[in-house]
Amino acid sequence: MANAQSDALVFFGATGDLAYKQIFPALQGLIRDEGFNLPIIGVAKAGWNLDQLKARAKDSLEHHGGIDAAAFEKLIGLLRYVDGDYNDEATFAELRKQLGEARRPLHYLAIPPSLFGTVAENLAKAGAAENARVVVEKPFGRDLKSSQELSATLHQYFPEAEIYRIDHYLGKEPVQNILYTRFANPVFEPIWNREHVRSIQITMAESFGVEDRGKFYDEVGTLLDVVQNHMLQVLANLTMDPPTGEDHDAVRDRKAELMRAVRPLTAYSVVRGQYQGYRSVPGVAPGSNVETFIAVRLHIDSWRWAGVPIYIRAGKMLPVTCTEALVEFKRPPRETFGELVPNTSAHMRMRVSPDIAIALGVRVKIPGERMAGRDVELDLHSQAVEDMPPYERLLGDASRGMNELFSRQDLVEAQWRIVEPILGNVTPVYSYAPGAWGPEEANQLIGNDGPWANPVVQPQGA
Ligand code: BG6
Repeated sequence: MANAQSDALVFFGATGDLAYKQIFPALQGLIRDEGFNLPIIGVAKAGWNLDQLKARAKDSLEHHGGIDAAAFEKLIGLLRYVDGDYNDEATFAELRKQLGEARRPLHYLAIPPSLFGTVAENLAKAGAAENARVVVEKPFGRDLKSSQELSATLHQYFPEAEIYRIDHYLGKEPVQNILYTRFANPVFEPIWNREHVRSIQITMAESFGVEDRGKFYDEVGTLLDVVQNHMLQVLANLTMDPPTGEDHDAVRDRKAELMRAVRPLTAYSVVRGQYQGYRSVPGVAPGSNVETFIAVRLHIDSWRWAGVPIYIRAGKMLPVTCTEALVEFKRPPRETFGELVPNTSAHMRMRVSPDIAIALGVRVKIPGERMAGRDVELDLHSQAVEDMPPYERLLGDASRGMNELFSRQDLVEAQWRIVEPILGNVTPVYSYAPGAWGPEEANQLIGNDGPWANPVVQPQGA
């Protein structure tokens, strides 16, 4: 079964938002780029028919990525639809019928986690879970315990090796490139540790608010929406040890070791913020204390990273939309030229979005008599956009049984362990103006390890 190509793709939640924004574009891409040619069956409880789903697919592609006439026509030809309640066995009997000859389906559960158990059980009863793979979306649990329960539920019907937990950041080209650049260039490895690194900062800034996702967002907040998953994955790629051996799980093994070495957060290492106006977003509780911004200070208890402060901040309604990691190297041990070399001069900057970049910050001499310098950045790599959207890469990988870019149970649990102590509004939430870099308290958190390096984003076309 390992690595066999799935012979059908089923997606639950076919009429929902995720299908609209991500799954249809990914499917069209897979058909266009990889000749994907298998029955694609949407399942939902919407009272729809196949023509309505086809119309939805068209609308989705018109708004997300554009229609590719040939691939779209094939997609429409491959599409099937099953309408029905997830509690009703008849829905699954119909699904089994639509699966026809398929014996190794891939089931994508683009539905709330509370329904995973019901759907998995009914798939099994209908004989559609055997030799199947299952793809699930974040959030994978709300804390360590619920995450373990969710895994236990799925394990009743699917072995761990057939469970594909999506964290779409893992499917991003520049996130993989962090790992690639580190381990394809041995020159970096000797300086990638506490001897040379002063601090690490990761910023995930979004200039928009929670908009029509008020209800969802108010249940999770920034910590669970993007830090517990996406940001910790970026951190792992930045700081993990090199994978060894041929084992296809080598990367995930090293990553899990790293996650386990991250010290759980405490209230002293967190600043939460909420943008002014958040409480009047539809779906948000009027007195909500949920954060739309968070800054945390982390430590990795390993020989490589002991004593190196790591800062992550993420938030909505910040000045720009940009995700970027900055590894700051130490300053010279003494001022050879009588000038104070800034803390920020020597660094490696890895930008994940909106454009892709890897740059090395160095100090060079200003021409003239004085031995004085200025900071410049050597652009090692820059690229306008991603080649392959994350969902296309991830769905393609899952359909081929390649699970390296998916989160494993032990990894997810290690991630929960890190954030668990600060769950549930245990620290104050400070207000900030839309368009600010979060509340002032975030600057106090970083203190002498700062300042925060605010990403600069060039206007498009500049
Ligand atoms: C999602 C979060 O997982 O990631 C969103 O739920 C966030 O709140 C999004 O905006 C960011 O993803 P990307 O790929 O646009 O950086």
